[in-house]
Formats: sequence, structure tokens, C-alpha cells
Amino acid sequence: MKICTTVQEMRQARARLGSVGFVPTMGFLHEGHLSLVRRAREENEAVVVSLFVNPIQFGSPDDLANYPRALERDIALLKEEGVACVFTPEAAGFYPEDFATQVDVGGVALELEGPSRPGHFAGVATVLVKFFNIVQPQRAYFGQKDAQQCAVVQRFVRDLNIPVEIVTMPTWREADGLAGSSRNSRLTEAERHRAPVLHQALCRARDLARAGERRRVVLEKAMREVLAQAGLTDIDYVTVVDPGTFQARDVVPDDALALLAVRLGAVRLIDNLPLG
Ligand code: PAJ
Repeated sequence: MKICTTVQEMRQARARLGSVGFVPTMGFLHEGHLSLVRRAREENEAVVVSLFVNPIQFGSPDDLANYPRALERDIALLKEEGVACVFTPEAAGFYPEDFATQVDVGGVALELEGPSRPGHFAGVATVLVKFFNIVQPQRAYFGQKDAQQCAVVQRFVRDLNIPVEIVTMPTWREADGLAGSSRNSRLTEAERHRAPVLHQALCRARDLARAGERRRVVLEKAMREVLAQAGLTDIDYVTVVDPGTFQARDVVPDDALALLAVRLGAVRLIDNLPLG
């Protein structure tokens, strides 16, 4: 497995590979990330994985500094998965001081995580355009865990005619329902114990939707009640949207998506579940 730390190294390594499946990550890998890697292996001649905690998608220096890192362990895991190449650039070289360009996505990027994390999606889109230009993958793999991120990526890839197929994989969950996330490692034991209630709240909305409920206020109230019973009240948003626009409608469509963003102590967790 080749480890590239500069853009030039990555471009040279890529030139020797056939069809490439690309899995962009910020590292501290878990089974969710590895499910993307395994799918990419099945569908391409070679897999390239980026391990890069992208500074421009973080709102606060604290959040960036506290993001968990385990580079050596991640590299060992990817070697076992038969990955051809890991790209782990240095932030300083990747974003030189005179770096001055941003990919500003509208539409779906303006909802939910958009206002909650100003600049976040511009940071994600900018780093991904750089990665797509450097790695030139045939396919790139993303997790439904970050459903809105998937929609934002689909949007700018289409709008900017980037020749890459975007593949979305289902959310990998722990046995108790908690969605895999690098941020889970920062939960205290007590918080980790309570965290599955996010998924339970989403399941409650799904059960109601399956029973025919289509009123958004009723679905949202039910989710808030499940969270409140577990003492989770630091809520960024709890909502049900149209998956095409990420906008809320009073009467939700059959294929609606329930999403939430909740703080447990110092950690902000997001999760979502299709209600259809
Ligand atoms: P990161 O949070 O490391 O996630 C990398 C990829 O793994 C994303 O596509 C994410 O949706 C997927 N993923 C995370 N947890 C998952 C789970 N439990 N099940 C399935 N897939 C999961 O998302 C980012 O990094 C960054 O924003 C990035 C796209 C790399 C740009 O910097």
C-alpha cells in the first residue's frame, strides 16, 4: 500500500492505477468507513482512501483540535482491506497561505447543517473538488450517515460536471443502534450509554410514519419526547424533510427523511432515518 503525503506523489501514484474507487475520510476509522472501502474494492480495480482532517470545514479551532486522530492505526486497517493508496496531505501544503477559492453550494446546502455550521459545506465541497481533481476517481463513496453531505456532493458534482459517480452506502450502526462516528470516541461512559436514544427517536418517527402519520409537527414532537425522556434537551434540530430539497413540509412525503442533531456534553451528534 502506497502512502502519499503530497499532491505530486498522489498524482504519480494515481497514474499507475486503473479504475479508482475513492473513499474520502477524516480518519479515526470505524466499521462505517470500512463498509465504504469494501464496496469500493468490489467495484473498482483500485481503492484510494484519503485521511485528512480538513481544517476549512470546522467552525471552531477547538472542534478541529479535539477531532480524534489515529493515523498509524488507520493505515494498518486500510492495509488489511487491500487499499492501493492512502492520501494523507499536510494541511499547510494543501492550503498554502494564498489559497483563495471556495466552492459555495446553494440549494440543499442552505438547510439544517448549513445554518447550524456556517462555512461547513463550503469547506467540504472545496476539499472534495481538490480531491476529485487530484485522485480522478471513477467512483466516490459516501455514507448515508451524513445524508445532507451526500445531497450536497451530488449537487455540486452535477452542477460542475465533475466526471465521478457518487455511490451512497447505508449507515453502519453499533448493536444498540448508535450510528458509527469518529466523534463517539469523545463521549463519556454515561453519554455513550444514553446516545442510542438518537436512533430510538428516529425509529419512533418511522413507526408513526409507517402507521400512516404524515403531520410533521406530530412526528417531530414524538422524537423530541423520546429525547427528553433520556434527558437530551440540547437540540440543534429535530425534523422531517423532503429528501430532494431538505426542506420541511407540513405534510411530509412518503419518502421523507427524519434527521436530528443533538449535543451530548461536548459532543455534537447527527443521525437520520428514511421514513419510507
Ligand atoms: P468522515 O466523517 O470521516 O466520514 C467519511 C465518510 O464515511 C463519509 O462519507 C461519511 O458519511 C461516512 N460515514 C461516517 N460514519 C458512517 C457510518 N456510521 N456508516 C456509513 N458511513 C459512514 O464526512 C467526512 O469525513 C468529511 O466531511 C469528508 C467527506 C471526508 C470531507 O472532508
